[in-house]
Amino acid sequence: MNEVIKVLCERRSTRSYSEEQIPLNILNEILKCGTYAPSGMGKQSAVIVVIRNKKIIEDIEKINRSFINNNENFHPFYKAPTLLVVLADKNINTYIEDGSAVIINILNAAYSLGVNSCWIHRARETFETKYGKELLKKWGLNENYIGIGNVVLGYRNVEMPKPSKRKENYIIFDEKE
Ligand SMILES: Cc1cc2nc3c(=O)[nH]c(=O)nc-3n(C[C@H](O)[C@H](O)[C@H](O)COP(=O)(O)O)c2cc1C
Repeated sequence: MNEVIKVLCERRSTRSYSEEQIPLNILNEILKCGTYAPSGMGKQSAVIVVIRNKKIIEDIEKINRSFINNNENFHPFYKAPTLLVVLADKNINTYIEDGSAVIINILNAAYSLGVNSCWIHRARETFETKYGKELLKKWGLNENYIGIGNVVLGYRNVEMPKPSKRKENYIIFDEKE
């Protein structure tokens, strides 16, 4: 297996992190790979917001949790030290796919550099709230930007999870080779 195939098949979502922060040079490499994701007509409709301030991560996490439950013992960002929010401009009709492609590049680039990650849902809902809209403003983004997904990044303090079995008939050939 070459290194790229290995990364693509062996990356797994991590749900428990140490407090160790990712060095900026490594984070920048990961972010660069996000920006090189494919996008519809090359329009690059997505943006990546990087949050390393613990208080702001916790505030966004609180909103994220409010869409699932109000159990304060549940940490939907798993106490990871870095949070990325990927948003994309809804005026570009491939914005959801564009943002998703950015996230996938980030997850795989991170793993290739020894950084663990997890894609976390409910970014759309988060940036429809009053606080979410205030953050958009702070980041210089208008309300055309829709949350596509959150990515938490850091170093795991648990075993690497095993992949679930791939389902039957995942791949369908139109004609037998
Ligand atoms: C669109 C999307 C949303 C996801 N949202 C969450 C989430 O909110 N919380 C979480 O722990 N994992 C989330 N995940 C991660 C999936 O649960 C994970 O990718 C899946 O269980 C397969 O595991 P693997 O990534 O280790 O292969 C999400 C993944 C995708 C693609």
